Amino acid sequence: TYVIAQPCIDVKDKSCVDECPVDCIYEGERSLYIHPDECIDCGACEPVCPVEAIFYEDDVPEEWADYYTYNVDFFDEL
Ligand code: SF4
Ligand code: F3S
Repeated sequence: TYVIAQPCIDVKDKSCVDECPVDCIYEGERSLYIHPDECIDCGACEPVCPVEAIFYEDDVPEEWADYYTYNVDFFDEL
């Protein structure tokens, strides 16, 4: 799955939403989140984010590693 990390917070540009072919990017209060079971790993969202908040799960920078869990937890809480 792809993961949305810290740069999205309070930016919420949403260009990624328009690119996602399976509509698996959901809006939260301060950030958007990618549904880990719905994402098909197409990578279409990653280059369009103006603040480079989106990463493939294995490529999330170390300092934002927790965001993988934040994305998963967001959907567990729904
Ligand atoms: Fe959607 Fe593709 Fe991005 Fe996954 S990688 S969130 S399927 S655009
Ligand atoms: Fe956030 Fe970037 Fe999408 S700022 S809403 S991840 S385009």
